[in-house]
Amino acid sequence: RSSLRLAATQVVAIKDPSSQDNLKRAVAKKAVELVKSGMVVGLGTGSTSSMAIEELGNLIKANKLKDIVGVATSYQSKVLARQFGVKTVDLNDVNHIDIAFDGADEVDAGMNLIKGGGAAHTMEKVVDSIAKECVILIDETKVVKSLGLSFPLPVEVLPFALAPVLRALAALGGQPEIRTALRKDGPVITDLGNMVVDVRFPEGVTDPAALETKINMIPGVIENGLFINVANKVLVGTKDGEETSV
Ligand code: 5RP
Repeated sequence: RSSLRLAATQVVAIKDPSSQDNLKRAVAKKAVELVKSGMVVGLGTGSTSSMAIEELGNLIKANKLKDIVGVATSYQSKVLARQFGVKTVDLNDVNHIDIAFDGADEVDAGMNLIKGGGAAHTMEKVVDSIAKECVILIDETKVVKSLGLSFPLPVEVLPFALAPVLRALAALGGQPEIRTALRKDGPVITDLGNMVVDVRFPEGVTDPAALETKINMIPGVIENGLFINVANKVLVGTKDGEETSV
């Protein structure tokens, strides 16, 4: 798969680059062109994935796609899918996922990702990993030389184990911080009932695959936001249509 990685990055040129939302919308429209009637589609979480869900719904409403079922990675995506006419089913009711669309917080040249800015990375990792094709939708601001230098790594943690997990993350060289809700009056609670710890690594993430495993080995960690060898294709919205160099 590694030799395909860079070839699998597709740049989507945007005619009207007046906003970041336009870049996201353009990649979302491009992404749903990959869906065929009868497919089981993984529905990612976040603002870009939301646009893809909306665009998928538009194609279904226009009868351009038939017999589509979605598998949502969050309540947010499930509610949106219902709103835009995309039928969803439980992951346990399907035996495969044909294609999954998802956003990302950071993507490196090897198509490794940091996800979890929307606290949905646990369900996203399950759905994205089993999809026959996992397509990541980003604008050019998400492409980085090295993961973790600017975006802290999200880790979903069992509340019961919060203190020991914080200590273990610090022992790995991280600077963990409990994610708080917008009004800062309490922790963010995920759809699965857990907390999220954002971990800064001052030197960046030097060995993403090793760190993914080490963090997931800590008892009480549910899942971390490093996605290694999960993405098959990255659609990058750029202002000038040029390849983003990393
Ligand atoms: C949610 C995620 C999102 O995909 C990620 O945060 C990107 O979101 P957006 O498309 O809004 O920039 O990982 O857990």
